[in-house]
Amino acid sequence: MDRRDFLHLSTSGLGLLIGASLFAPAAAYFLSPAWKKKPEDWIFLGDIHKIPVDRPTKVEFVQRHKDGWTTIEEKKSAWVISKDGKAFTVFDPRCTHLGCPYRWDEGRGEFLCPCHNAVFSKEGEVLSGPPPRPLDRYAVKVEAGKLWVLPALKKD
Ligand code: FES
Repeated sequence: MDRRDFLHLSTSGLGLLIGASLFAPAAAYFLSPAWKKKPEDWIFLGDIHKIPVDRPTKVEFVQRHKDGWTTIEEKKSAWVISKDGKAFTVFDPRCTHLGCPYRWDEGRGEFLCPCHNAVFSKEGEVLSGPPPRPLDRYAVKVEAGKLWVLPALKKD
């Protein structure tokens, strides 16, 4: 190897080294959100003392999703019911037939879906109509008097 080849090789090697040392941190910065394991996103629904006992209550909340570097906010709702003010059930607000929003009928004491006349009990069981299964539920937890929900569906 003559002097010219040596200089050419060492300059190229040094250039590669500098390029890699600049590119690696930048690549790690831009790709790291995609690699991060997402924690479970429990959402605060409310103070349990403010939720009426034995009467389904529609609660609205905002669910935030991280999509890479963007945070997307989505307005959602759920039906909350508790027989004793201690244990809570939270239903997804979409009918299990084709996903229409259903409502609580206080006079009948039942959930009614207007799309195809489905009727669900207060416990979410199908009483009549085409839905193939009871109302979907969310995972819930109560901590220090606060109700939290995990709006991933938990099928019954
Ligand atoms: S969507 Fe509710 S009964 Fe069809």
